[in-house]
Amino acid sequence: MDIVILRDSAAVAAEGARRVRTLLHKKRDAVLGLATGGTPLAMYRRLVADYEQGRVSFAKAITFNLDEYVGLGADDPQSYRYYMNRELFDKTDILHSNTHLPVCADGDDPDSVGPVYEAAIRAAGGIDLQILGIGRNGHIGFNEPTSSLRSRTRVKTLTRETLESNSRYFDDPARQPKIAITMGIATIQEAAAVLLLATGEAKAEAVQQMIEGPVSAMWPATALQLHEKATVLIDDAAASRL
Ligand code: GLP
Repeated sequence: MDIVILRDSAAVAAEGARRVRTLLHKKRDAVLGLATGGTPLAMYRRLVADYEQGRVSFAKAITFNLDEYVGLGADDPQSYRYYMNRELFDKTDILHSNTHLPVCADGDDPDSVGPVYEAAIRAAGGIDLQILGIGRNGHIGFNEPTSSLRSRTRVKTLTRETLESNSRYFDDPARQPKIAITMGIATIQEAAAVLLLATGEAKAEAVQQMIEGPVSAMWPATALQLHEKATVLIDDAAASRL
């Protein structure tokens, strides 16, 4: 694991964006694995600014997001599809047909949506760079503690802790889904490189476990210790327990 500690969240966003740009300069048709949540927002905003200034193009890029809530459609402002359209896809030259999120819609067989999503990732040639955030309980994507380190893309029930952490995004708690579809830990491990971003004191314990703890399903991000090209970009606050 490469650990990069930077002063603050703005520096983490800038460095994350720089790495995405570098990849797209080398490989215009790179396959990006994308994450949602609060952490990567500033990085996406930088990439949009970079695009507007002609410093990067997504015209040939292909994207696969980590996860999506079950039951929230693309038009729902809380869905991750809506977030990605609003923060990145609608503001750059990426082709919408090249952007993918796992979806388990009404009538879909929950057991088949994961394998279908993984087949699409393989057909695109696999993920070149997987962006990740981390939950306070060490989850990556929606792979909650106790998720098998061999898990694949599947439907998962969210833990109470994750529901509480993410409740800030929902005005009406009744509308917060309790089920999501997420790439598995083994799926994430297959990316050629992973780049995990973490900022703020609230992530310090999860960051400490991820880097210094034993590999364990109780802290899913510890699986990244086994990845050959994993980079962790953190600010001073997230690094405060190392
Ligand atoms: C969410 C997402 C994760 C994200 C994490 C942290 O539940 N499913 O992909 O990394 O929680 O979110 P945030 O960056 O808002 O703290």
